[in-house]
Amino acid sequence: MISGANRGIGAAIAHALAESGWRLSLGMRRPQASDRRRLVERYDAREPATAERWLAATVRAFGRLDALVNNAGVLIPHPLTAPDTEPVLDMLRVNALGPWRLTSLALPHLARTGGRIVDIASISGLRATVPAEAGYCVSKFAMMGLSAVAAQAARPLGVGVTAVCPGWVDTDMARSLPGVAPEGALDPAVVARAVRDVLQQPSGVDIPRIILDVP
Ligand SMILES: NC(=O)c1ccc[n+]([C@@H]2O[C@H](COP(=O)([O-])OP(=O)(O)OC[C@H]3O[C@@H](n4cnc5c(N)ncnc54)[C@H](OP(=O)(O)O)[C@@H]3O)[C@@H](O)[C@H]2O)c1
Repeated sequence: MISGANRGIGAAIAHALAESGWRLSLGMRRPQASDRRRLVERYDAREPATAERWLAATVRAFGRLDALVNNAGVLIPHPLTAPDTEPVLDMLRVNALGPWRLTSLALPHLARTGGRIVDIASISGLRATVPAEAGYCVSKFAMMGLSAVAAQAARPLGVGVTAVCPGWVDTDMARSLPGVAPEGALDPAVVARAVRDVLQQPSGVDIPRIILDVP
């Protein structure tokens, strides 16, 4: 299962995994057509019921679950000097609580296959980056917290959890921000290869964190 797989890093992960023979279940706000190797379901992190329906449809279609990639995310520029917390709450909803729900629903299924969870976090989940993106940082720190507690809960079940923390990646998200030059950003395919490599490790190999920084 890959959330937010219609564009950007999520689409690159779907492409890399398809090339390696994975059967995919893609969660999107506006689903495209499904085919034999690719189930596409509606998933909106702001609508909890879509997570349950997507998980149920995946297990029905494939009979098992080997991996969950929590990729869907949103960046709303919002500095600490802005007292309104609604944009921060919205980013927490999409970037941390959506993954919380999917993790919670997926864990029992991943426990049966010795599967893995990969959380697409960010360098902004490790340190304060740009002041204008304070709210985003807070949401990605929350995602890192989720990844840590998920790893603790998943380890005894034989499920691995990895947080992938990229610097700027050349997608719509980074291009929408002032001062981020595409030539200084990572190719989404680099992040996708890292995710594929994690998912192809034998179970029992613990990879808590991967940092893909830019100079
Ligand atoms: N780009 C970077 O520099 C960078 C760096 C580090 C980490 N990340 C993280 O990488 C992940 C992917 O980002 P990206 O760069 O590929 O961004 P992107 O090109 O803006 O794509 C974001 C994806 O998330 C989906 N999404 C947004 N809100 C959603 C919601 N409420 N429910 C379900 N899906 C939703 C989008 O769907 P729609 O098409 O429907 O909007 C889209 O598929 C995010 O978690 C982001 O925080 C990005």
